[in-house]
Amino acid sequence: MAHCTLIRPDQLIDLRWRVLRQGRPRESAVFPGDAQATHHGLWQDEQLLVVLSLFSNPIVHNGAIYPQQLRGMATDPVCQGQGLGSQLLIEVQSLGPLWCNARLRARTFYARAGWQAIGSEFDLPKVGPHQRMVWAPKPCP
Ligand SMILES: CC(C)(COP(=O)(O)OP(=O)(O)OC[C@H]1O[C@@H](n2cnc3c(N)ncnc32)[C@H](O)[C@@H]1OP(=O)(O)O)[C@@H](O)C(=O)NCCC(=O)NCCS
Repeated sequence: MAHCTLIRPDQLIDLRWRVLRQGRPRESAVFPGDAQATHHGLWQDEQLLVVLSLFSNPIVHNGAIYPQQLRGMATDPVCQGQGLGSQLLIEVQSLGPLWCNARLRARTFYARAGWQAIGSEFDLPKVGPHQRMVWAPKPCP
């Protein structure tokens, strides 16, 4: 049974490195601000299978504030496509409005969880094409 917890930066670096920084030095998987960010993981059978991090980095879109940036979303390649990433993403969405710069390949993953694309696609050096996306709870009817 999968469950989600807060994790320490040192617990996630190897998975982040393997999935998001392939072929680059391990240090490239350490992000500025990691020490101040909050890190979340999804575990199954005591294995850390999905990680993501939330950084305090507010943006304003259409007059609404999105205080936290989601970064480093990564699922172990052996269990991608099994719904585990969505499970962790939905869990952290309970923490309030979020934004991220999504890799284009992951855009539909976020859209399915209710995220909205804003602005134009852009290129992040060494990482590739991205799309900024935001998520906020739907107002009560
Ligand atoms: C994107 C990612 C975190 C999703 O996690 P996951 O556990 O596979 O997600 P789920 O099983 O809940 O959802 C699967 C959906 O994610 C997307 N997806 C699946 N594999 C993917 C991959 N290798 N890269 C990007 N997106 C992927 C697809 O839209 C897929 O939809 P489908 O089931 O209709 O094919 C994971 O696939 C991953 O780590 N990809 C590589 C790193 C990455 O792109 N991270 C996002 C950075 S913004």
